[in-house]
Parts: sequence; C-alpha cells; structure tokens
Amino acid sequence: MLDLVRPIVAAALVFSSVAALPTFAPSAPASRPVPIVIWHGLGDRYDAPGLVSLKQDLEETPGLEGVFVHIVQLGDDGSSDQRATFFGSANEHVSRACAQLADLPDIVDPVLNPSAHFDALGFSQGGQLLRAVVERCGAIGKGVASPGARMRRLVTVGSQHMGISSLPPCPPDSGPLSPCKLMHLSLVRSGIYTPWAQHNVIPAQYYRDPKRIDEYLAGNDFLRDINNERVGDEQASEEEREGAVRDWRGEVEGRNATYKDNLASLDKLVLFRFSDDMTVVPPHSAHFTLPSPNDTSTCPLPPLPPDPGCYAAPLPWSELPLYKDDYVGLRTLDERRSVSKRVCEGVHMEIGRECWKAIRRVFVGGRGRDQGGAEEVWHREEEDAPKLVLQV
Ligand SMILES: *[C@@H]1O[C@H](CO)[C@@H](O)[C@H](O)[C@H]1NC(C)=O
Ligand SMILES: *[C@@H]1O[C@H](CO)[C@@H](O)[C@H](O)[C@H]1NC(C)=O
Repeated sequence: MLDLVRPIVAAALVFSSVAALPTFAPSAPASRPVPIVIWHGLGDRYDAPGLVSLKQDLEETPGLEGVFVHIVQLGDDGSSDQRATFFGSANEHVSRACAQLADLPDIVDPVLNPSAHFDALGFSQGGQLLRAVVERCGAIGKGVASPGARMRRLVTVGSQHMGISSLPPCPPDSGPLSPCKLMHLSLVRSGIYTPWAQHNVIPAQYYRDPKRIDEYLAGNDFLRDINNERVGDEQASEEEREGAVRDWRGEVEGRNATYKDNLASLDKLVLFRFSDDMTVVPPHSAHFTLPSPNDTSTCPLPPLPPDPGCYAAPLPWSELPLYKDDYVGLRTLDERRSVSKRVCEGVHMEIGRECWKAIRRVFVGGRGRDQGGAEEVWHREEEDAPKLVLQV
C-alpha cells in the first residue's frame, strides 16, 4: 500500500499518457480557473512526487490552464509535514490551514482570483480536515479590501466523515521509530479518548467507535464538533440523552448553525470511496455513513481484518441522525442534488487513471456539467492498469 518506489514509477506511467492527450486550441478563458487546494492524507507530505504530479496534471488539464494549485503544508520540510499528519491537534491544523490560505494572494486577492472561490480536494483524512475548513472558516481572508474566498466544490477521496473504529495499519516497511509505529504505540499507552490523545494524535481525533459513543461525545473535540454531534444526540445512551440541554424546539443545544450554513453553501460535495478499501474501517465513512446494523452479510467487523470487496450494506442516510436532522447541512445539500457518491475501483488511495479523471472532472466546467444527485458511478479499471499510490 505505501511502497515508496512504486508511487513514483506509477505516477510517471499514469501521467505520461495523460500529458500526451491533445490539448484543445486555447479559447482564451475569460478569467482564471477557480484555484484548487489539496490536503493530503496520513503519512503523506506536501512534496511527495505523487502529489506534485497530480498538481502538475491539474495545471495542464484542458479547461484548467493556468489554475493555481496549493498543497496544504504544515511543516517546514517534507518530513515535519509528514509527522504533522500523525501528531498535533486537528483543530489547530485547521486554523493554520485557513491562515495559510488567507496569506495566498492567488486565493484571496480579488484581482488575481476574481471568482472569489476556491475548490478543494482532500485525500483520506485531508477530506474531513478540508470539510472543517469550509465549515469553520467560511470566507477566507475576508476583510475591508476583499470579500474573501469561499470554498466552491469539495471533493473527498477515501475520507473518514463518520470517523474510524479501528486505527489504520502501518505500512509493512515502517521502522519501529516511524511516526506510524509511534502513533500506534502512543495510543496503546494512553487510550484513544484521553485528553492527551485527543489533543496530540490526529487519527484519535476522528476515532468514533459506535460502541463507545458516549466516550466519543464527551471526549472528542474535532470530528464530533465538525459533525455537529452533541451529547444527548439520538445515538447517545438513554442516560446521556436525558441529561442533554435542549432549546425551545426540543433540539439538542449547541449545534453550530454557521457550520451548517457554510457546508450547505457548497456548490458540490463529491464523496469518493474505494471499492476494496481495507484501511478505512468502516469504509462507509468515505460516503458519510456507517454500516447498517441490520446488515445480514458476513462481512468481518473490527477487530477482524477487513475482507476486500465485502461491503456491508450502508446505513441509508434517512436512518442516520446526522442526515435526518441535518446537523451539518448534508441533507440540505443532498436535497438540492449537490452531493455525489462515487466509487473508485481498488484499495485505499491507489488511484487509477479512470478514478483520477473522474476526480479531475469535478473541477472543470461550470455548474451542471456534473451529474449531481446521489447516484454511484463505478470506474472500472483494467486489471493491471497503472495506479498512482498515495499515502493513507
Ligand atoms: C460556530 O463556529 C464559528 C466559526 O468557527 C465560531 O465563530 C462560533 O463561535 C461558533 N458558535 C458556537 C455557538 O459555537
Ligand atoms: C432495522 O430493522 C428494524 C426492525 O425491522 C427496523 O425498525 C429499523 O428501522 C432497521 N434499521 C435500519 C437502519 O435499517
């Protein structure tokens, strides 16, 4: 999964053919394309060859010529950026990312970016971090001289919107002192829901075990917050529900209406999951749901290793409190047909050419060029088609 040599080779294979596609005669775009912000996944780094090749490919995509692409960077160099995917506070990372974007004239300067928008592409955990960016930061760089830039389309690929109930495994070649091994070790020592882990270990901050939901609701300040879940929610224990403070409508108090308005203001939310994901448990999280508790299939549940290709029936959104009661605007978006759920063939973060083309297409063209709605589109790959392998 995280082989270091293969990504480079694979990236070259995938994109040499993309680069060879004929480019259309330039019909001078009236304005620059909407900038794109990429946030990478766990264990990846802003300067990884795979990511850099994706950035270049976007810059050369017909319809996106001259696009400004920014890869979120949270360390001074590649290895500290990589460490920051494992360790630190997700809340702080999100504020730093918003500040970073606010410092980029290509995003916030109305002359350089007349669209006053940007698009976002989040790989794996970068997906929920970017969702936090749109929910919390709203118009980035808004000030007296600028209206600020708002996120227009958000594409997440193999992300964990409903959390994880098992930690992602380390790549087989991780040394004993690799950040991944250290992360696992630190969580064995401290426990996922301890304040220490909740402030220092990134995956703990989107760990959401449905069997220990009260601990999550009481101790988590990242995923719980951006999902607008509150103590007393429908999924909490009877006891917790009774203790909840409710407003005059009988709603659990404290959901942040700004998060909902901001997410619902997206023009598109596109959720990709991988068909054979064995890293994200449950893989349903990439489609912003959970496995249905009524599923009668025999897909192994954690802590058993997942079975590739065995995808337990997803909980329909109509049964998911977060959707039903529209905690974050997902339902508003969906009812406006602005949410798409897609599937890329393959294991976590192995992005085949067809998958990449489907991702890229979201950023090209105006509203309505994309299908919208909640239908799934499968992107079949040829057996041994080259794949770009990104970190989890
Ligand atoms: C809601 O979120 C916004 C943006 O992060 C924040 O400024 C505000 O204080 C939050 N409101 C509540 C009630 O938590
Ligand atoms: C599970 O089955 C029960 C009983 O048939 C039903 O009431 C409930 O709505 C189902 N839940 C889901 C999530 O499908």
